[in-house]
Amino acid sequence: MTVTENTRPSQTLNAVDRKDARDRGGDRQPMLIARELKKHFPITGGVLNRTIGHVRAVDGVSFTVMKGETLGVVGESGCGKSTLARLLMHLIVPDSGDLIFDGDAVGENDGLSVRDMRRLMQMVFQDSYSSLNPRMPVEDSISYGKKVHGASEQEAKEAARELLTKVGLDPNLFGPRYPHELSGGQKQRVNIARALVLEPRVVILDEAVSALDKSVEAQVLNLLRYLKQHFNLTYVFISHDLNVVQYVSDRVLVMYLGEVVEIGPVDEIYARPKHPYTQALLASRLSMDPDDRIEEPPLVGDPPNPINPPSGCRFRTRCKFAEKICEIERPVLGEWLSSEAHVTACHMFVPRSGHSMANEAGKPEAAATVPAAAMAGED
Ligand SMILES: Nc1ncnc2c1ncn2[C@@H]1O[C@H](COP(=O)(O)OP(=O)(O)O)[C@@H](O)[C@H]1O
Ligand code: SF4
Ligand SMILES: [Mg+2]
Repeated sequence: MTVTENTRPSQTLNAVDRKDARDRGGDRQPMLIARELKKHFPITGGVLNRTIGHVRAVDGVSFTVMKGETLGVVGESGCGKSTLARLLMHLIVPDSGDLIFDGDAVGENDGLSVRDMRRLMQMVFQDSYSSLNPRMPVEDSISYGKKVHGASEQEAKEAARELLTKVGLDPNLFGPRYPHELSGGQKQRVNIARALVLEPRVVILDEAVSALDKSVEAQVLNLLRYLKQHFNLTYVFISHDLNVVQYVSDRVLVMYLGEVVEIGPVDEIYARPKHPYTQALLASRLSMDPDDRIEEPPLVGDPPNPINPPSGCRFRTRCKFAEKICEIERPVLGEWLSSEAHVTACHMFVPRSGHSMANEAGKPEAAATVPAAAMAGED
């Protein structure tokens, strides 16, 4: 099966109906709140190796993830998706901003320690081979985390074998194997098992299926859906593949050059994208119908350099609706806390912003129109 916009199951990964004993604030309290997260990487140069600039990889990103939902994160390569994932895991320390996990501030004195948060939140990367120890049988790779956190040898082994079964691998057959003896799909199943061994509540999947063949990708996506229901999980699903994100997500966050430009329910975003960048991204995805492909790409050129991004709206150098106000003022994302909200950071959607297409209601007709046809794009 190939994942397309038409194969999204009608009931995807909606809020879980089982209670989790670890739940603190109830269903309405977001699982995760990210507030104004920032990470600027210093760039050094010259004979004295001084800092000569900063890559603004993540630049004031705010969003919520509700319990039991899948939040898809999309955007072109280099827009800051992986940096965001690493910030959520505290694998890199944010320059500023807050992270709140089920009501507890992460890393604060009276909140949740980073160590405890890392148990509750796990990550699966794209590169399934390099994330496994080549000299360790996969059963040991899976049980290792459990032992580090105090489980006995026997408990950890049993947990690993049970998880191997859950991810569709016979523990007798696959448990003793080494990573090089597994296919890409099998390795990614092992990585998923390894992420689940500490019984997390949130799993961040960073391009976790991107390296797989399409048929294997679909199997792993279905596995992820099963595991989500079974273990009561919440997912942050990062991918450059818009079809896959549509297939798995409840809500979608669109990033451009370190910023969130749009966030909202998946069906809303895909049917009525607001931001010109989201419209162009969707228009340039590969259509399954050869008659439905267009000649001119709606999005041309690379994103600008994140070391010195354009003033005002960062998309203005590629936006056909750009006006003076877009150069002067950074458009802010609207109210983002509600899970139903569909908001965008574009002056056309802000009443009286100074953009000629911003009407009183903040809903310009022209910008709300999705470019009609999709074309063959590289992503
Ligand atoms: N450790 C780092 N040092 C300097 N720049 C980095 C580092 N990690 C990522 N970047 C830069 O930050 C930007 C965002 O990268 P990344 O988060 O990997 O994007 P994505 O995952 O969307 O492709 C890119 O310009 C990348 O080159
Ligand atoms: S703010 Fe201006 S440049 Fe940016 S997306 Fe909207 S219209 Fe285009
Ligand atoms: Mg990445």
